[in-house]
Amino acid sequence: MKLAIISGGSRGLGAALVAQCLADGFTVKELSRSGRSAENVSLDLSRPEEVAAKAEALFAELASQAWDEILLFNNAGLINPVGVVSDKSLDEVMTNIHVNYTSAILLLRSFIGAFQTADCPKTIVNISSGAALSGIYGWSLYCGAKAGIEHFVRTIAIEQGHQERPIKTLNIGPGIIDTGMQADIRATTAEDFPGVDRFVGFKESGALRSAETVAQAIKNILASDQESGSRHDIKEFLL
Ligand SMILES: NC(=O)c1ccc[n+]([C@@H]2O[C@H](COP(=O)([O-])OP(=O)(O)OC[C@H]3O[C@@H](n4cnc5c(N)ncnc54)[C@H](OP(=O)(O)O)[C@@H]3O)[C@@H](O)[C@H]2O)c1
Repeated sequence: MKLAIISGGSRGLGAALVAQCLADGFTVKELSRSGRSAENVSLDLSRPEEVAAKAEALFAELASQAWDEILLFNNAGLINPVGVVSDKSLDEVMTNIHVNYTSAILLLRSFIGAFQTADCPKTIVNISSGAALSGIYGWSLYCGAKAGIEHFVRTIAIEQGHQERPIKTLNIGPGIIDTGMQADIRATTAEDFPGVDRFVGFKESGALRSAETVAQAIKNILASDQESGSRHDIKEFLL
């Protein structure tokens, strides 16, 4: 029996990861607000306390079963609000930080606590972004949060190296994907995001990859047995 836990599996890349994991025989739990599948566990990542409590209970229950392999995809993400941060409301700012960073840390914390002693291969896959590596005008919250969680995941790999039954961690840059997040980017104004025309061009020129293509490349990365703590771009793993 194999287990895959996927945050933000209701749509976009997360939904493609859910479909792929189900096809590969995994028991899947997808954590989101709007998921309606049998795999959905309703969770609002903008509410960190709720995330901590629900994740702890869910993971404790799952850890009471024996698994042959366990995957956690930290995939949920939010680009908005786009624009200069001082123009944004406190609520918008906190929602972005919580979804991309605080709640991601809490999910990983509960996952490590619950599955540290499980005697099987265990991997945390963080779906990162080029925005974790370079600053982009108008994306300060997203860039900062993505950089923060990527580095957190890299540091977890160091700590796990001291464990008897270590959990492997990987950071993956998924490239540009034809999902709702890209639609959100195209819907921003040039004032908030001067690079918006470039992203409109990505869609018009067919440069965006399908979520299914990216999910397959992520599977290829996992199959290639990379070193814990390493970062990979899917471009090297497309078929
Ligand atoms: N699309 C791209 O070009 C691109 C590029 C680089 C990196 N990425 C990364 O790829 C990952 C997937 O992005 P995507 O493009 O598939 O985005 P998407 O289509 O916008 O989907 C976002 C997912 O995150 C979940 N989510 C957002 N807010 C949430 C909340 N408050 N609570 C629970 N879940 C929440 C959504 O679920 P609900 O709304 O149902 O809650 C949804 O399942 C993200 O980490 C993103 O940063 C994407």
